[in-house]
Amino acid sequence: SLVRHYKFSVVFKNTTKLCSSKPTITVNGKFPGPTLYAREDDTVIVRVINHVNHNLTIHWHGVKQLGTVWADGPAYITQCPIQPGQNFIYNFTFTGQRGTLLWHAHTSWLRATLHGAIVILPKRGTPYPFPTPDEEKTVILAEWWKSDVEAVVNQSVQSGLPPNVSDAHTINGHAGPVPGCSSPGGYTLHVESGKTYLLRIINAALNDDLFFKIAGHNLTVVEVDASYTKPFQTDTIFISPGQTTNAILTANQGIGKYLIAASPFMDAPVGFDNLTSIASLRYKGTPANPKAFLTSIPPQNATPVTNTFMNALRSLNSKQYPANVPLTIDHSLFFTIAVGVNPCATCVNGSKLVAAFNNVSFVMPTIALLQAYYYNKKGVYTLDFPANPPIPFNYTGNSTANMQTTNGTRLYRLGYNSTVQIVLQGTAIIAPESHPTHLHGFNFFVVGKGIGNFDPKKDPKTFNLVDPIERNTISVPTGGWTAIRFRADNPGIWFLHCHLEVHTTWGLKMAFLVENGKGPNETLRPPPADLPTC
Ligand code: C2O
Repeated sequence: SLVRHYKFSVVFKNTTKLCSSKPTITVNGKFPGPTLYAREDDTVIVRVINHVNHNLTIHWHGVKQLGTVWADGPAYITQCPIQPGQNFIYNFTFTGQRGTLLWHAHTSWLRATLHGAIVILPKRGTPYPFPTPDEEKTVILAEWWKSDVEAVVNQSVQSGLPPNVSDAHTINGHAGPVPGCSSPGGYTLHVESGKTYLLRIINAALNDDLFFKIAGHNLTVVEVDASYTKPFQTDTIFISPGQTTNAILTANQGIGKYLIAASPFMDAPVGFDNLTSIASLRYKGTPANPKAFLTSIPPQNATPVTNTFMNALRSLNSKQYPANVPLTIDHSLFFTIAVGVNPCATCVNGSKLVAAFNNVSFVMPTIALLQAYYYNKKGVYTLDFPANPPIPFNYTGNSTANMQTTNGTRLYRLGYNSTVQIVLQGTAIIAPESHPTHLHGFNFFVVGKGIGNFDPKKDPKTFNLVDPIERNTISVPTGGWTAIRFRADNPGIWFLHCHLEVHTTWGLKMAFLVENGKGPNETLRPPPADLPTC
């Protein structure tokens, strides 16, 4: 295995999209940012240099960080931010991991423009468990605001109102098109008849679950979140923020140009619908200016598409199971996911939107939790995050009366190597959406899901303990629940949050402390010497 060095200079770059320009925070002047390439078991050393006027950190989403929690990156959870003019070196190893992941900023909403792909190839000489594709292409989906994204979130926090939705989605950095401002071209995926392509699709959007499809072509899904799946064919890929999906495209249609579309699960509620971003798939030999796309894309019917896609996901590695899926549970947790309204004297309507697991809206500390833990600094957090919601209620009925949240920096303690089950229960919320819930530091098995209220007597009997998919981010369906299991085999403090940035901002986040009972100095390695201070 190799050690690979990367330099991430965070710089402003004036960028024009949708007929308007803005100074944009980028890594090395690129949007999306550079791809981190490696092989399984390689080590990467990424030197991040902050040349902008904003505190920031970088998170390596889906990297397990075995023994290296100091390199995980969420601001105020594992580290203090890198301040303007400062550097920090992230040093970690892709131990036993290969596939597609992503890196992104983990401070405020800087992820909007600070993100990129992580491509980890199998060890040299180890083939994919499917025929080797002729070529590989990375497809990064994101969102673009014409205005300054930090101003958008700040305005929302001060007013208590929802933030402005983005002006367009992007495919590999190309936005739109948008009426009145036709963006010429867009991204083009060039293919040759008869060849196969491994598409590494990444959803780096802040706030939208997306549907991805290519007109006239089926895609064969072979991997999600860097875990191989039993291959299945689909015409639509459902992908939530933070998720990655590898799919094989076979260029087996007539020569020509085909529409590629990324469209959101929810349409924008008012004004221009920022819905579909398009790109083109173009066969070699297509005339220079083909009149039109060869086929169009029918509109989505969100819920059935989502369910079909999620039902088809099965782990490829069933021969290893059930050994890897925890069959006994040390910590059985039940977390409600709620968006609600709390009083706010300084807000526009005297109230503000809040979001919470188990009615606890998480308050970010002003020093990093991991540093507080390691240096025994008292009064930063408590270890009393509730294992269950305060009052059981009809979660998916009309339950707004139960949404009053309390604030707190409350963690849940897990013994090293203990096994955990979390039932994530969606509740009746203001608008239909799914909650892509992301756990740092672990892959979890998705053992069950359903619509309505979780039934602790009946539903566990339906759990898949044979070939459940392993992921790091799971969409909890609207008005339904999802059950996940994992083994807490990595010491540290690990963030759990909704990967819709708007919900994270409102407090839909919490953290686990995983320790071995021998105290911080026996649980963790010492921090790197250049770890920023707050
Ligand atoms: Cu990709 Cu905590 O996030």
